[in-house]
Amino acid sequence: MGLGHAVLSARPIVGARDFVVLLPDVVLNPYETDYASQNLAFMMNEFVRTGRSQILVDPVTKEDIDKYGIAKLENAQTLEKSSDNRSFAVTGFVEKPKPEAAPSNLAVVGRYVFDNAIFDYLAKTVPSVGGEIQLTDAIDALIGSRGVDVVTMTGNSFDAGDMTSYMRAFMYFAQRQLSDK
Ligand code: G1P
Repeated sequence: MGLGHAVLSARPIVGARDFVVLLPDVVLNPYETDYASQNLAFMMNEFVRTGRSQILVDPVTKEDIDKYGIAKLENAQTLEKSSDNRSFAVTGFVEKPKPEAAPSNLAVVGRYVFDNAIFDYLAKTVPSVGGEIQLTDAIDALIGSRGVDVVTMTGNSFDAGDMTSYMRAFMYFAQRQLSDK
């Protein structure tokens, strides 16, 4: 019934703890980043420091906007790719908008660090875009009550939900393996 429903289904296992969600069809390039300090590690540190949930985002082109959840920021609409992780307060998300209706060029990449309160909002979330219970809608509710930050990603990722990008991932990892031998 949608990503939101899938996450809510994990509630009995997670219990009252805060938690991380990783969408495994988004593969982060492990060769270009330091996993001990960047991306998800950075987000977990920020969550501990600020108490605000953290969501990884990356700039995408106009053509790709309608495949992703898109972030709305207070002060910026278009961000360049940065070489380090940066954290910004986010004011909302729109799930898979048309490019002309998109609030920014920042797409949700599939790594989230959540305050446990997200479960309460998910339990109240009704189906929306695509008839699915959208995680994005519950995040919007969490922003209103506790505040949420987006973190810009370092390095690149491959989206296995997109056939071209899936093929690129195969080629990239195959070539890396060959050159590591
Ligand atoms: C999901 C999320 C979307 C996010 C994307 C990342 O969409 O709903 O916000 O940008 O994952 O891959 P899905 O790919 O399941 O359609």
